[in-house]
This record gives sequence, structure tokens and C-alpha cells, in this order.
Amino acid sequence: MRQNQHRFPFRSLQLSLRFVIPLAIALAILAYGVVPLVDGLTLRWAVRDMDIRSRLISNTLQEPLIELLQQGNHSRINALLLRTSKDERLLALGVCDQTDKLLFRTAAFPGELSCKAPDQSDSDPLHLVRLPQGPVHVTLNPLESEYSRIGSLVLVHDMSYMERRSADTRKYVIMLFAVLGVVISLITVFVAHLSWRGWMEGVRAMLRGEGILKPFTGPQQAPSSELQPLVGDLRALLRNLDAERRFADDSTITWSPESLRTLLHKQLVGERVIVVSNREPYIHLKKEGGIEVHRPASGLVTAVEPVMRACSGTWIAHGSGSADRETVDKHDRVRVPPDQPEYTLRRIWLTEEEEKGYYYGFSNEGLWPLCHIAHVRPVFRSSDWEQYVRINQRFADAVIEEADSDDPVVLVQDYHFALLPGMIRKALPKATIITFWHIPWPNPESFGICPWREELLKGMLGSTILGFHTPYHCKNFLETADRYLETRIEHESSTISRRGQLTMVESYPISIQWPPPWRGTLPPVEQTRSEILTDLGLPADQLLGIGVDRMDYTKGILERFNAVERLFELHPELAGRFTFIQIAAPSRSALEEYQAFEARVHTLAGRINNRFTHNGRPAIILKAEHHEPDQVNRYYRAAQVCMVTSLHDGMNLVAKEYVAARDDERGVLVLSQFTGAAHELHEALIVNPYHVEQTAEALYQALTMPEYEQRERMRSMRALVRDFNVYRWAGRMLLDAARVRQRQKLAARIGKES
Ligand code: G6P
Repeated sequence: MRQNQHRFPFRSLQLSLRFVIPLAIALAILAYGVVPLVDGLTLRWAVRDMDIRSRLISNTLQEPLIELLQQGNHSRINALLLRTSKDERLLALGVCDQTDKLLFRTAAFPGELSCKAPDQSDSDPLHLVRLPQGPVHVTLNPLESEYSRIGSLVLVHDMSYMERRSADTRKYVIMLFAVLGVVISLITVFVAHLSWRGWMEGVRAMLRGEGILKPFTGPQQAPSSELQPLVGDLRALLRNLDAERRFADDSTITWSPESLRTLLHKQLVGERVIVVSNREPYIHLKKEGGIEVHRPASGLVTAVEPVMRACSGTWIAHGSGSADRETVDKHDRVRVPPDQPEYTLRRIWLTEEEEKGYYYGFSNEGLWPLCHIAHVRPVFRSSDWEQYVRINQRFADAVIEEADSDDPVVLVQDYHFALLPGMIRKALPKATIITFWHIPWPNPESFGICPWREELLKGMLGSTILGFHTPYHCKNFLETADRYLETRIEHESSTISRRGQLTMVESYPISIQWPPPWRGTLPPVEQTRSEILTDLGLPADQLLGIGVDRMDYTKGILERFNAVERLFELHPELAGRFTFIQIAAPSRSALEEYQAFEARVHTLAGRINNRFTHNGRPAIILKAEHHEPDQVNRYYRAAQVCMVTSLHDGMNLVAKEYVAARDDERGVLVLSQFTGAAHELHEALIVNPYHVEQTAEALYQALTMPEYEQRERMRSMRALVRDFNVYRWAGRMLLDAARVRQRQKLAARIGKES
């Protein structure tokens, strides 16, 4: 770095010399051309002055001299000449007769002069005579009476002062040009230095990714106009390269655990990744028979876990299970998955009070409803915020502890950790921080009601890459950052620059593991269905619908039940023929809002069952308890229709899980238009869950859909989930991160060499 600083001015100086040398030559030519010109001009002006002056003296002396000459009064003539010669500039006077004989002369009259007009050299103006004692101005003025010429008056002016004046002028002109030259040179050197710095800054910024998107202005310097075309070309080149690489990556890579591993080894030189999330992938619980391991109901965990297994590394999460402390080592680490360890889970402990403020309070009573349009008002408390800050710092400290280099790759997950990127960045400025926001991002007005909006945004902008599920959420985020922070935003390439930190905001639609973990191990669909129907005490031809959610007000469970009820109203023949199974994992049940919601779900299910249970076959079976993924998968395979009716959802992986589960290419997905998944799974029956009839009709259409149509739709959706799987989600983020890292390294190298 120091070496870089030393070479920097040298490079600027070299650049400056290229400006200064031609400038100096131009100045020299100018000086030697201008000085004689000025010299000549001043001389001409002086001679003209002397001419006028001589005429004036001659006119004044005419009359008295003629009179005295006619009188022959020699003494008075001499006295008159002597008196006149007292004038400072007038060197001498002489009076000649008609025959040009010098009759009278003052003492200083030069012997070289006579009563004849002087010989002129070509270069001297008229009346200028160069004598050994110096230049003189000589005029011959006729003395004429009324009738005849009597003689002439010779006036000799001293012009040596002109030499002095000329020399002075020449000196001052040269001095003036010299000073001007120095000043111009200094300015040129300074400007060249700034241009060079601006240029280098700009190139480095571009390599970091800024210049591709933003006008080429560093914080202080703009590139000089002559460099602009080059800047434009460089920017276009980088943008094309980026686009081409992304396109090539996407079209040539088949995303799988292997390709993800290879990518990490090749592009990120074998970096171990550190993942941070609130929810842990494996929860150890104390049960009667001993310790049990649970897989939580969390879209985040569903997606990130296979990625971690592919990449290995460390996952830092809240240890929330009742047996979590008993299963970690002395560094709070445990290797997982328990039956075939592939990565490390590092647990962070929270007190009840901390969990209340940070998790239940700020995260789930504040940010969760803030980001979801589900008509539940967010609550913000200062005490919750304080815990949120404290716990974010605790996780940041854990990241720093777990990092084994000063530039680790850290994947920060979700709204529990908006401050974490900024905190990590502070401690590890070179870290590559990829933050993924798993839930929607609201518009600036909605987000603006959060009292700590600026702090949250600043924290998030510590990220290198900030990911959302959809371009719409990215757009909302860019607008929010624009509204509430001093930032420079480039919409063209979706980057935000704040205080020298650049964050790329990009959409990465999350997905699930493909091929599914159970592939080839499960019994056929028909067998699973008949087992489930037997378990539920339902006849073999009963039609089944499935919904799988956490018990959360954003999931549209009430709206879904209303649609089921409406279906029975519109198609009473289906009562007793169709049963809807709702799996609802208990979630955040310490919060009143969630308790009230759960009560409403139970009440509504009960009411509908009262109306439409037929022959002991219920309309709705509500299973409000935790189910492990393999159990859920069995229901997916058994059900003719899956309903995802979220009122607002980042992506919703249940939709994709249902599609993945149907290797028989049967079954229909009814999908809310308010999920991220609706932007990808176009062959689902897309509904507005607020519109009860429309949703009921879609349900009916699903139950009566011909098999060939089911196959067509399912096949197409399965192809999409296969190609756009979770390895692609993680891979694209990591590839982008690798590109940013490469650019930063290149920028640093250029910095050293400049
Ligand atoms: C959503 C969030 C996740 C969270 C999950 C389960 O999917 O985006 O971050 O883990 O809900 O919620 P919970 O509060 O139980 O972790």
C-alpha cells in the first residue's frame, strides 16, 4: 500500500510532464516572438511622440528665431538656443542658413550631424539616428519668412532612455511569461494528477462493480473529459463480460450439490462458508424416551440445509431446543446431520428475556407484519429494539470467532439479522457478505413506519450482495434505501453505494433440493394414499386436499377454509367425498396474535365440519402439530390437490415441495398470486385467496381436472423446479460473490501498481 502511495505521484508526474514540456516550448516561442514585437512598437510610439514634440518646439521658436536671424543678433540667438536646450529630453539644437551651413549650435550638438537629413538604416524609423553615444531623434525644421526660406532649425532629442525602457519592458515581459508559465505548469500538473487519480479511482470502482452501473465519479474526482470515451468503453466491456459470464454460467451449469462444491473450490478457492440464521436446522428436544432431533418447519431451513451439506462449513443459529445444550461440545458446536455429519452447527444461547425482545418482539411483532401485507399491525418497542441490537452483535461476534480468514464468505439469513452485515463489515472489512431476505420487502411508505428504519437499512448495506426472491422486492428495497438514506443508486445494474461500500441488490428465487432426498426410496403414490386413507379412517376413493403451513396469519389458512366451505356450498355432491387435511405446525405461539389466530383456525374448521361432515367423513382435518419432512411428504403424495393460499409470501416452498413430491406427475397445485412461487409456477391454478368463490372454483377445477392435463401441468412445473433448484439459488449468489471478490482483488492490485 505504501509502495502504491509512492508510485502514485510519480505516475502523475510522468503524465504531467507530457503536458508541461510542450507548454514550456510554446511559452518560449511566445516570449521570443512577443518581446521584439513589443520593443518595436514602443520605439515607434516614442518616435512619433518625439516628432510631435519637435514640431511643437520648432513652431514655438519659428518667429523669434527668424526675427533674430534677420536682425543678425547672434548673442540672443545663442541665448534662445541655450534656454530651449534646458529641456530634459532635448539634447541639442542647431540653426542652419539657406546653404545648409551650421551657423549656431548648442554645446552638445553631435559632431556627426549636419544640416542635411540624416542617413537612415532600414530598420530604424525615420528621424532616428544611432550615434556612438546612443540613439538620437533628429528633425530638420525649415525656418521660413513670408517670402522665402531663411534656414533651418535642427532639433536633436536624446533617445537613449528608449533603450533603457526597451530593456526594462523586455525584462518584465520575460518575467511575466516565466511566472505565467510556472503557474500554468503547476495548474497542469495538479489537474493531471487529479485526472490520473480520478481515472484510477474510477477504474478501481468499476472493477469493484460500481463503475459498471454508476456515472464515473469517485467521491472526489471526476475523470477528465478526454478520458470519458475510454471510461465508457471500459464500462460497457465490463458489463458485457458480466452479462456473458452470468448467461454462460446459467446455461451451462446443471445445478447439483457437486456443481456447487466445485464452484466453491474453483471460484472461491475452497472457502468454507459461514451461515447465520435464527432458526437452527436440527433441534434437540428432551422427550420421555430420551433426546429426539426435530427438523423445524421453516422454508429457510428447507432451502439452506442442503446447500450447507454440499458446501460444509459452519452454521450459526439460536440453540432453541430443550436438549441443545446437552448435545454441543465445549465450543457450543455439534456436527450435523446427526446420522451423517457434514457440517458444524454452532449454537448461540439466548435468555428468555433476550428471546422475547429480539425474536418475538422486534423480529416477529415488528418486522414480520411490517414486511407482509396481511393486515396485522406491527408493534415496535424500544426494549425490543435494544435486544435486537444486542443479539445481532452477539451473532456478529460468533461469526468473527468462526472465521478462519480476514475475508470469509458469510451468508446472513433473514429479517432477524438486518444489522449483522454492518457489524461484520466493521470487524472484517474484506468479508464477502451475502444477505438473503426470505420474506417480502414492502414499499418505502410501509417500511417508513419503522422507528429504526435508517439503522436497519444501514446495517443491511454492509452486505456485498443483498438478495430477495423477486425483482419487485429488489425494486422496493432500492426505493426504500433511496428514500431514507444518502446513497448513490444505479438502477441499471441494481447497486447501492454508500460511503464507499457497494451493495449489489439482486433477485435470487429460492427453491428446494433436487433431486429430492427420498428419490427412489418411497413406495408408489397409490400405496401411500391408501395407507393414509386407512390411517384417517376414510374410504379408498376419498378425494384429498392438503395444506402445509406454520400456524401463521400470513398463510391464508382461514381464507383456504372459507374456500373449502364455499366449494361444498357450490358443489354439495362433494360433501363426504372430499376431505381437506391441514397440517399447521405450531409457530411463535408465545405471541397473542398467533394464539388468537390459532383459536380462529380451530373454530372455523369446527364450524365447517359441523356443516359438511358426511357419513363420518370430515370436510377438514386439522393437524395442528409438528410433522417431520418425510411425514409431510407422504401427505403431498396422497393428496389430489395442494392449496397454498398465502396472503403474502416471499416465495413459499410448500408449493415447490408438492411439485417435487409428485413423481407420478399427478396432482394439482392451487397457488396464491401473492407468493413469489406464483411468478415461477405458471401451470398452477393461480388464485386470489381474498376472493372466496374464485378460490373455491379453482379447488373444484383441481378436483375434476382430467389426468392428461394434470400430467402436462405437473411435468412442466417439475422441470422448472428441477432446473431452478436450491443449488442454483445458492450457486448464483456465490458466483456473483466470487465475481465481486475477483474485481475487488483486481482493483486492489491496480491500486498497488498505480
Ligand atoms: C419464515 C422465515 C424464516 C423462519 C420461518 C419459521 O419462513 O422467513 O426465517 O425460520 O418462517 O419461523 P420461525 O419463527 O419458527 O423460525
